[in-house]
Amino acid sequence: MSLESRVLHAGMRRKIMSAQEAAALIRHGDNIGMSGFTGAGYPKAVPPALAQRIASANAAGDAFRVGVWTGASTAPELDGALAQVGGIELRLPYQSDPVCRQRINAGEMEYIDIHLSHVAQFVWFGFLGRLDVALVEVAGIREDGSLIPATSVGNNKTWLDQASRVILEVNRRHPAGLQGMHDIYYGTQRPPLRKPIPITGAADRIGEPWLRVDPDKVVAIVETDLPDRNSAFAPPDDTSQRIAGHILDFLAHEVKHGRLPDTLLPLQSGVGNTANAVLAGLDAGPWHGLAAYTEVLQDGMLQMLASGTLASVSATALSLSPEGMREFLERLDFYRERIVLRPQEISNHPEVIRRLGVIAMNGMIEADLYGNVNSTHLMGTRIMNGIGGSGDFARNAYLSIFMTGSTAKNGRISCIVPMASHVDHTEHDVQVIVTEQGLADLRGLAPRARARQVIARCAHPDYRPMLLDYLERAEAAGRAGKSGLHTPHLLAEALSWHERYERTGDMRGS
Ligand code: COA
Repeated sequence: MSLESRVLHAGMRRKIMSAQEAAALIRHGDNIGMSGFTGAGYPKAVPPALAQRIASANAAGDAFRVGVWTGASTAPELDGALAQVGGIELRLPYQSDPVCRQRINAGEMEYIDIHLSHVAQFVWFGFLGRLDVALVEVAGIREDGSLIPATSVGNNKTWLDQASRVILEVNRRHPAGLQGMHDIYYGTQRPPLRKPIPITGAADRIGEPWLRVDPDKVVAIVETDLPDRNSAFAPPDDTSQRIAGHILDFLAHEVKHGRLPDTLLPLQSGVGNTANAVLAGLDAGPWHGLAAYTEVLQDGMLQMLASGTLASVSATALSLSPEGMREFLERLDFYRERIVLRPQEISNHPEVIRRLGVIAMNGMIEADLYGNVNSTHLMGTRIMNGIGGSGDFARNAYLSIFMTGSTAKNGRISCIVPMASHVDHTEHDVQVIVTEQGLADLRGLAPRARARQVIARCAHPDYRPMLLDYLERAEAAGRAGKSGLHTPHLLAEALSWHERYERTGDMRGS
């Protein structure tokens, strides 16, 4: 690792300072657009210094809270540190930090859960108010002032463009060889001036490898040498291996029936252990030379690139384990040829996802009989992480697949329920539901047939009779003229499973 400064622009070199000095330039009430996407490319020095400043202000009786906007989830040094001192007034979009989650659910922090493709344009449209500060980690600053992006792109282009003040963290821990992997598209416009996004193949490059910034807006530069979060993935368990097996069989079946080409269509895979395990399963399948048009590149996709199952991956961020990161660094030249990192408004762009015909595979918390999916809220009221990009992909995909284990908490929760306690993806955006029990193909089925598929194929045997009993009694009520028969429900009972869990700790009752 080189100790030479990576700040090559003469004017910006004069703005190098400590993290504490940079944090002192942030004011109470500021909205800060921070880099960071699933533990990659987030600022690592200024947020902890800001947290210290906030703690001191609070100790002196002064209010100090900021708005934190990011690409997606970050890490304990950012979300965790700021949430710990009660420094976040409002957070958006996706987060997965335990302290943030606790504060949001305790009503101590405001949180807005926005589709990831919407965030940048909401800022351009002025829907979210003013953006005061951009706090962005980069891998270097070139002589001409352009910025070498780090391991995620996220909303950085928008933060740098829209904020009135810019603070850059230049992290020399990122390999210089990252340069050339990014594709930053500057052609986006506001309606009515919009033009088509010119991506027709998943690996197309349509922009430039560097981020632009107005040097006059840069108020501070902090040099760092710190690693990304790089959390380990759990080894694939029996449940996720069985889910992967069902998806594999389904895709092969679709190819056989001519509904998918031999080389499939570009894959999108969600976050988390199950999604990662499904990729390992796909890697063992018969395919070669596939493409991915996705949001995060997890270990599973790296392995698929190495094995040749995937020929290319388009994403907005790396989200690798420490082991995955080692492999990535060892063969950086190989991976740079095959990976494109884009702004999230492009990696998740509905127009491109629809054009390419993406196969979307996302995790969920629960689904109901008719295929409405909850990806975000436990028992309808407590946020887990957020919708992330799942809605961007599910609504626009060629095939929209959602997966989960059939039960949670050692069988005390059924992930197939009469009525979802929160809906992120309506039945209209959900074509396939998979659990370790099986796969329900809901395409072309009307609601009551969907319900029977979901119960028969996806529900755990402990809950199958309960779900069938619910459906049959709801249908009987409909036939008796007490309610409708299109999506039969017993309204007084529809959420009783969740209520029973809250009361007794088991959806089956005691
Ligand atoms: N009710 C209550 N709790 C449930 C539950 C349910 N139906 N299903 C799962 N849980 C709990 C689990 O017990 C676990 O709790 P723990 O952390 O206390 O152990 C937790 O929720 C996570 O479950 P797990 O099965 O480990 O989930 P995962 O790692 O596969 O992630 C999501 C699943 C839904 C949380 C995750 O996919 C997500 O955040 N999705 C939304 C964003 C998204 O899809 N992004 C990708 C788009 S590109």
